[in-house]
Amino acid sequence: MDIPADLGRVLVIIPTYNERDNIEPIVGRVRAAVPEVDVLVADDNSPDGTGDLADALAAADDHVKVLHRKGKEGLGAAYIAGFRWAAEHGYDVMVEMDADGSHQPEELPRLLTALQDADLVLGARYIPGGKIENWPVSRQFISRGGNLFVRMMLGLPLRDATGGYRAFRAATLDKIGLDGVDSRGYCFQIDLARRSLKQGLRVVEVPITFVERVHGTSKMSRDIMIEAMLRVTQWGVSDRLTRLRSKR
Ligand code: GDD
Ligand code: MN
Repeated sequence: MDIPADLGRVLVIIPTYNERDNIEPIVGRVRAAVPEVDVLVADDNSPDGTGDLADALAAADDHVKVLHRKGKEGLGAAYIAGFRWAAEHGYDVMVEMDADGSHQPEELPRLLTALQDADLVLGARYIPGGKIENWPVSRQFISRGGNLFVRMMLGLPLRDATGGYRAFRAATLDKIGLDGVDSRGYCFQIDLARRSLKQGLRVVEVPITFVERVHGTSKMSRDIMIEAMLRVTQWGVSDRLTRLRSKR
């Protein structure tokens, strides 16, 4: 499956923190599945040497770039830096993808095809055709519970607002205005989806198969979950207050 040429230049941004065993396979899979796109690895100075491995990949392939960051600042901060880099370098589409193989590069042409009629495409696990492979029940419970909480608090018309496999038009990120985004952990994903919907942009969900990582460990933590719950609650309350005020 080819990717639509009219989308322009596409950059796949892969944030990494200690992904030594995953970085080479994932970059290789992206380059094989969609040779026309470029890859940016956004590494937070991983102690395990992921950044050096990424440099070696970049030295061997013009389509691969590396953004070295000072230290671990969270997924959201790494993506914002990656989006800025992409805008400065003239890309038209920015893709988010995990390094650990959970987001399959072979499914990227489907996301990009859907972007022809959308401003933001979300890879979704919880819609017909979507799947999760090898996640323990406990993790599925957290993820589904999180999505239910988001729907109740924010009323977003989405089934998977927390997923991290996405394609944005550059214009979408311009309209959202990244300067106001300070979510650091995984609630960053919810934040961008909600801001896009608030701008009246077209957000479309496409089914994906999420495959749990084989190497390395998840960076999900209690602090990340607490940040997400607090933020979602905060957004929900302020949305309701705004609606109440506008009724008066
Ligand atoms: N640069 C950088 N800095 N990268 C990070 C950081 C950070 O502080 N924290 C995590 N990452 C990278 C990881 O190295 C990986 O490539 C990607 O972000 C996702 O992290 P995981 O730790 O593998 O996430 P997960 O599998 O627990 O969570 C998945 O589900 C979440 C909830 O649905 C991901 O798909 C998330 O994107 C998603 O929000
Ligand atoms: Mn993962």
